Amino acid sequence: MTKEYNIAILGATGAVGRRMIEQLEHSTIPVKSVKLLASFRSAGKKLKLKNEELTVEETTPESFDGIDLVLSSAGGAVSKKFLPEAVKRGAVCVDNTSAFRMDPDVPLVVPEVNPEALKNHHGIIANPNCSTIQMMMALEPIRRKFGLKQIIVSTYQAASGAGQAAIDELKKEAQDYLNGEDIRGNAKILPTKGDKRHYPLAFNLLPQIDVLEDSGYSHEEWKMIHETKKIMLGDMNSKDIKVTATCVRVPVIISHGESVYFEVEDEKATAQDIKDAVASFPGNILQDDIKNQLYPQPLNAEGTRETYVGRIRPDYENPGCFNMWVVADNLLKGAAWNTVENAEYLVKMDLI
Ligand code: A2P
Repeated sequence: MTKEYNIAILGATGAVGRRMIEQLEHSTIPVKSVKLLASFRSAGKKLKLKNEELTVEETTPESFDGIDLVLSSAGGAVSKKFLPEAVKRGAVCVDNTSAFRMDPDVPLVVPEVNPEALKNHHGIIANPNCSTIQMMMALEPIRRKFGLKQIIVSTYQAASGAGQAAIDELKKEAQDYLNGEDIRGNAKILPTKGDKRHYPLAFNLLPQIDVLEDSGYSHEEWKMIHETKKIMLGDMNSKDIKVTATCVRVPVIISHGESVYFEVEDEKATAQDIKDAVASFPGNILQDDIKNQLYPQPLNAEGTRETYVGRIRPDYENPGCFNMWVVADNLLKGAAWNTVENAEYLVKMDLI
C-alpha cells in the first residue's frame, strides 16, 4: 500500500504559505491530511485546498502531534521555536526560513542540484534563500561540465521577497507617486522591516536586502556567498569557488533577476557549450535568442516553476569568463515550489 502523509503548513496565510498550499495540490506527494497553521491572528480563517475548505489554526507545540511532514515559512524565529518541537514528535520539516541553513547537521538543498544531501537529515531540511536557488539552477550544470572558479552576482530582487506587506507598500507608493505625491518619508517596511530607516521602492532602487553588517555586506549578500559554498562544495567557508554578491531590491512585484558573471576552469568552453549545458538541466529553460529579442523577464516567469536563463555571452578580455541573466519566480522556485519539491524527493527517496 502507498504510504500517505499527514502534512502541516506553518505560515499558511503568508505570501509563500499560500503558494505552498497550491504547490501541494499539484504535487506527487500522497496526502492523508493537511493542517494549516499560522499565528493567533489568523485562527479560524478559512483557506481552500483543492475543493476543500480548511480552517487555519493557531500554532502550538501540540499542533504537530501525528504530523509526518511540515512545510514551513513563518519567519526564522517561528521556525526556531516550533520545528524542534515538530521533530521531537516525529515529523520531518522542510524549512523555507534562514533559521537552520548554516547548521552543519541540516542539509541545504535544491533538489536538482544536491539531492543526495537529503540523506543526511536529522529531521530538518533547509530551503536556500530565493536568490541562491535560481543561481544554483543556472550554474550547477556549468560547474558539472566545465568546473567553476569564481562567481560575481548582482541581483534585481522583487518586493514579494519581503512578504505581503512589502507588496502592499510598493503598490500604494506607486499609486501615490502617480497622483503627484512626494512619497519619500512614507515607507514603513522596506528595505527591511527590522531596521531603523525605511525608504520607498516605487520608481526607486534599494541596495539593501536584510540588515547591513559591519563587513559592509548586507546579510542577503552574506547568505548568497555562504549558501552557494555549502550547496556546491559542502562547506560554507570553502575557498574552492570564489563568490561575491551585490543584492538590490527593484520595484517588481514577483520574480528576481540576476546578472551573473562567472569563470570556469575549462578555458576551452564556448558560449554555445554553456548554453547547451544550461538547457539540458531539468528545471531550466534557455531563453537566449538575441535575433528575436528573446531573454528572460520577471513578468513571464511569474507563476511558473522553472528557472529562465539567457544573454549568455563571453567576456572578450578574460578567457573562460562569461556573463548571463537568470530569472525565476522567487515565491515558487525560490520558495514554495522548492520546498514542496524537496518534500517530493524525501518521499521518493523514502526519507520520511
Ligand atoms: P499570520 O497571518 O497569522 O500573521 P509573510 O511572510 O507573507 O509576512 O507571512 C508570514 C506567515 O507567518 C503568516 O502565515 C503568519 O501568520 C505566520 N506567522 C507569523 N508569526 C507567527 C507565529 N508566532 N506563529 C505562527 N505563525 C506565524
